[in-house]
Amino acid sequence: MGGTTGSAAPFRFADLRRGGEDARPELLAGLRAARAAIPPKYFYDELGSRLFAAICCLPEYALTRSEARLLADHGGEIARAAGRGRLLIDLGAGDCGKAAGLFPLLEPAGYVALDISADFLRAALGRLRQRFPGLPLTGVGIDFTRSLDLPEDLLAPAEAPRLWFYPGSSIGNFAPDAARGFLARIARAGGALLIGVDLVKDKAVLDAAYDDALGVTAAFNLNVLNHLNRLLPADFDVADWRHVAFFDPAASRVEMHLEARRDVDVRLGEGPRRFAAGERIHTEDSYKWTPQGFAALLEEAGLPKQRRWLDEAGGFALFLAEPA
Ligand code: AVJ
Repeated sequence: MGGTTGSAAPFRFADLRRGGEDARPELLAGLRAARAAIPPKYFYDELGSRLFAAICCLPEYALTRSEARLLADHGGEIARAAGRGRLLIDLGAGDCGKAAGLFPLLEPAGYVALDISADFLRAALGRLRQRFPGLPLTGVGIDFTRSLDLPEDLLAPAEAPRLWFYPGSSIGNFAPDAARGFLARIARAGGALLIGVDLVKDKAVLDAAYDDALGVTAAFNLNVLNHLNRLLPADFDVADWRHVAFFDPAASRVEMHLEARRDVDVRLGEGPRRFAAGERIHTEDSYKWTPQGFAALLEEAGLPKQRRWLDEAGGFALFLAEPA
């Protein structure tokens, strides 16, 4: 961001998703399994992205505020450690708000925003372009949990060292082995990683964070059925299902499920699927880490050079990690 006021910097947008072709087999296999499951990335249709933004404002969901506070309190130090003038690559950019807050500190050479919710991202980048006309902006609609292989021309300017940004503890959606694999792919792609991780805490606090009094998280969870009805198509009735969420300390993860309130027959592609009353569809795991456990995971993934910032309550951590 050179503060240039003359000609506008480049703006590019690429949608690398293959929509229903990719989604349908994966979704049908998950729903037909004995223990039915839906991958959490399907939460984020237009309404799902808005409901998630609302979750981040809930009194029970401290995660986003803790991270914002850490970035506000230590942003200067983090920027000095990360180095200014990097190509900032945002994994799951959403409304781009978190990254944009760092622009004045990081002074990135360019910003590449990746998100599975391409239309939501495109709108957010349109607004960002007005605010930062001198910054080269690239948006990519992509399911990066599937592949991080980005066409090189999208990672521009190419000469700038990369800073991968993975905030919000989205890494928590991966089981430990998969998390290690995903982090290793980032390590191989080159550059540094700034990542936010939610930490293990009291069960009562975590239970409430994923089952809030207003029912916003319940709406977020249930809305995945509306999204599937359009994607597959299917004929789920949201009223047949109940939101269930709890922290399992032994597995160190919050689990979210949708539980059938009664016997339900759902039309799914070729044939119906019966769900018995009380049967659950597993919709999300959100793993919680200890600072030591996450440091070890980064090291095993090939990111041994680390700095770490913890919030006062010890509920959230930011790590800056690099290959040796
Ligand atoms: C976006 C995956 C970090 O696990 O806390 C919030 C998603 N699910 N409330 C999380 C979520 C229910 C969130 N992540």
